[in-house]
Amino acid sequence: MNPKNAIVIVGAQWGDEGKGKVVDLFTERAELVVRYAGGANAGHTLYVGNDKVVMRLLPSGILREGIPCVLGQGMVIDPSALVGELGELAARGRHAARDLIVSDRAHLLFSYHQLVDGLREKATGGAIGTTKRGIGPAYEDKIARRGVRLGLLRHPSRLREEVASALAAWAPTIVALGGEVPTVDAVVEPVLRAGETLLPLLRETSLFVDDALRADKRALFEGAQGTLLDVDHGTYPFVTSSSSIAGGACTGAGVGPARIGEVIGITKAYTTRVGGGPFPTELLSDVGERLRQAGGEFGAVTGRPRRTGWLDLPGLRYAARVNGLTGLALTKLDVLSTMASIDVCVAYDTPEGRTPHLPVDSLADVEAARPVFRTFDGWSTPIEGARSLAELPAAARRYIDFIEESVGVPLSLVSVGPRRDETIVLRSPFTH
Ligand code: GDP
Ligand code: IMO
Ligand code: MG
Repeated sequence: MNPKNAIVIVGAQWGDEGKGKVVDLFTERAELVVRYAGGANAGHTLYVGNDKVVMRLLPSGILREGIPCVLGQGMVIDPSALVGELGELAARGRHAARDLIVSDRAHLLFSYHQLVDGLREKATGGAIGTTKRGIGPAYEDKIARRGVRLGLLRHPSRLREEVASALAAWAPTIVALGGEVPTVDAVVEPVLRAGETLLPLLRETSLFVDDALRADKRALFEGAQGTLLDVDHGTYPFVTSSSSIAGGACTGAGVGPARIGEVIGITKAYTTRVGGGPFPTELLSDVGERLRQAGGEFGAVTGRPRRTGWLDLPGLRYAARVNGLTGLALTKLDVLSTMASIDVCVAYDTPEGRTPHLPVDSLADVEAARPVFRTFDGWSTPIEGARSLAELPAAARRYIDFIEESVGVPLSLVSVGPRRDETIVLRSPFTH
């Protein structure tokens, strides 16, 4: 078994780094793709020809026929949303259920999770700015040990009992937030209907993944969200509720750490964040608006405008550390072609002095920190057509060389457009 055949693709920022594009591209050489965390809060955009496709629960490898795609046990899955996504692909002629395997240990996400998520957002004026997909409440149930797993779709009467007891636990919260408690039937019926499609896909997926790795199959583990949204390592409490870092692939897919040989961190050439929470390099000026327009920075799931800012190198060094990055994929470099000059955060000034580290220990630390910028010249030529580093303008080369050197992780690829071919591949995956 060669660990280099197992590659984790992980977001190195606050999500939306372009993980979907990279996974779709790398799937050309993969034999298995596994999602390991999160749920339909993810929105991974792929372009195939002129078609734009957004994956929410399905792994981004699903467009290539014959490659098994796994939804791991670290996920929370709304069965109706999953069946809906399969239906959307079927309408495009891609019958994805043939290649899909779903963990029977993943947790079911019910309508009351989504209801509570929405009511809480309303009550707090959108403080966290969640995707309102019910992610937080579903993971709360999992950790509180009253979650219901997909395997229970095989036993409808027990599923109904467990839903009744979880719903009773949520009822006071729903009422206090001004909501209406749904009936057990209203919760369970759509789930059982969707279950008819999902039952044949259910399996103990960690065994399936282990068999594949033992057979030296080339596997991609597709992260959702990003390092700074991880429940342990992100800018808590402005985070999601799952382990989105690379270590989440071990728990979320059921794979030992020694089995994984490569971890590629995806980062934009600048930074975005959607929702609330600290963002020290944020640009609230018209420069930020220009980045938003040029980069099409509007959420793939909610359509919300994404907050924009300069690249944060202390943040990337942090991502390199907590994920153990072995490679870096730099996306959306083309978006910076519109900038006369480009700032990059190289350090932070804190009350204790200057530090090369991102101060994420407490919210107060992040808020007290001031980014120290270094300015680079822009380049005014379009770069979408570049297929090698030599074809990039010298100013762009200087910018990416500086990033690679400062983060201390080799670049695996540079993406210069949303399409598969708009990519400069520096190290092909699975070549060792
Ligand atoms: P993900 O959640 O990490 O998969 O990223 P999203 O799909 O939410 O957001 C990334 C957006 O940037 C998508 O609309 C992609 O099509 C687009 N994208 C990815 N790479 C590039 C690139 O190199 N240049 C440009 N202009 N767009 C890109
Ligand atoms: P992908 O996989 C960007 C953000 C939300 C909010 C916080 C908590 O496409 O990169 P949640 O609904 O998870 O409880 O929201 O996390 N968030 C994301 N931001 N990309 C994502 O996924 C995200 N998934 C969640 O905006 O700030
Ligand atoms: Mg996204």
